[in-house]
Order: sequence, then structure tokens, then C-alpha cells
Amino acid sequence: MIVYLNGEFLPLSEARVPVLDRGFIFGDGVYEVIPVYAGRLFRLQEHLQRLENSLTSIKLHNPLSRQQWLERLETLVDRNNGGDQSIYLQVTRGPAKRNHNFPEPVVPTVFMMSEPASILPPSLGAKAITRTDTRWQRCDIKSIALLANVLLRQEAVEVGAAEAILIREGYAMEGAASNVFIVVDGVAITPPNSQFILPGITRDLIIEAMQAAQLPYREADIPEAQLRGSDEIWITSSTREIIPVITLDDKPVGAGQPGPVWSQVWHIYQDYKQKLRSNV
Ligand SMILES: Cc1ncc(COP(=O)(O)O)c(C=O)c1O
Repeated sequence: MIVYLNGEFLPLSEARVPVLDRGFIFGDGVYEVIPVYAGRLFRLQEHLQRLENSLTSIKLHNPLSRQQWLERLETLVDRNNGGDQSIYLQVTRGPAKRNHNFPEPVVPTVFMMSEPASILPPSLGAKAITRTDTRWQRCDIKSIALLANVLLRQEAVEVGAAEAILIREGYAMEGAASNVFIVVDGVAITPPNSQFILPGITRDLIIEAMQAAQLPYREADIPEAQLRGSDEIWITSSTREIIPVITLDDKPVGAGQPGPVWSQVWHIYQDYKQKLRSNV
């Protein structure tokens, strides 16, 4: 596997960062995960805009222009033989003597790697659990500091669930690494973007697709009781696409199988990917 580190393309086994990198010491950095289908970067401008927003939020100057990101990303995809991949990229505040305040000057570390795309068969549905949202108040920043998310996801995995859906002050926010949609009386509902959720690229694409197909949806807060009483629950992310949740805390969601609205939206999503693959 060929990775990108600070201007160079090299094998993963040769990539090295100093132990004093603030990403390692403080989790001081941000990241993106961009799917690649048939060698083409999916929703690239949206991912680069979210990266820009994350960098601005942590007061770190974007070290590369849009064009420079594009060139490096395309080279990385080609060097890893095109096809389907998942690109992980992160920017940290770079190596510096350990001290909480920002170093002067900042020499950011830019790292990108390609991972195999997860092969997703039409989902049979997944288990999810609910947990108190123990994260901070800036979940809109795609921060590499993911300890709360890691612990919450691990709790899900330990009981055989695919995701932990996070409840903050009585409302469902999102998953440990996904956004959440529910369906009530045929209407899809997802929480509005705020500092408490990540503005998911998959989430936005689903909203866009539902709008185009004139399927009813709302961006609205989801009280915990509404989550538990909903007909369908989906979790969405770039790597997992749209997964129907069929049990929540061991109780069936709706009829206990993937729902009809999920099926419609899933097919629209697959068509969208197919068009990207064939460059339509
Ligand atoms: C906390 C969180 N919310 C939502 C998402 C979904 O975002 P996207 O659709 O851009 O992958 C992710 C993705 O990893 C995430 O970590």
C-alpha cells in the first residue's frame, strides 16, 4: 500500500512521524474518509469543504489548496490501482515540544492512506444499542480525538451490535461513527446539523436524493421515545452507506426487518454510485 506523507508517496511500512507530533500527543488534528468508486472520488468537493470547516474550527491553516488536494488524492488513488477504495486523510498540528498552546511556527503533518473498500451486500439489518452521549460539545468538528466514540462503539461490538446510538439530554443525536435517520408514518426524520452531530456527507446525500425523488423527510430533533417507537431506523456513513437497524436495545424496530423506505432510499443511493462509476 502506498501512502502520502508530507509531500511524498511511499510504502506504508516506510512512513514515519515524530513521536512529538501533536496528533499523537494531544489528538490535535482533523480527518476525512472519502470513498472511491471505480477510481473516482465520491463527493470530493463536499469532503474538502468539511475538511476546510474542521480546520477553521481548530484554527489550523489548510496546508493545501483545493487543486493540491485534488492532485495528491488522485495520485494516491492511482498509485493504489484505482477501483474501489476508501481514502483516509488527516492533518495534525505537527511535531512540537509538548505544550498545550499552539507552537510557533506550526508545521502541520498531512497523512493520507488508501484502505480496501468494505464490500457491502444488501443489508439484512443490524442490531444497535443506545448509550448516553459522553462526547464533547463540538461533534461537528471531524476531530481525530475519538476516545469517547471508540469506547461507545466498543460497547456496541461487545454485545454484537453494529452501532451505539447516542442520546443527549433526551434526544437521539447520531451513532458513534454514523448519522441516524428514523421513519415515522412514512416520513424520514434526521436531526438538524448542530454542534452536537457531524454533518455527514452520506446524510446530506440522502436528504438531497429524497428531495429529488419527492420522498417526505424532515430535519427535526428526535426525542428518545420517538426513536424507540419509530417504524424504521437507519445508520449512515461513507463506509457503511445506509444500514437498516432491526433491533434497538434488543427490541424489534417496527416489523423487525429492513423497512420499505430504507429499501427505496438504498436503491437510489446504489443508482447514484453506479452513475459515478460510469461517469454519468
Ligand atoms: C460521529 C460520526 N457521525 C457521522 C458520520 C457519517 O459521516 P459521513 O457520512 O460523512 O461518513 C461519521 C463518519 O465516520 C462519524 O464518525
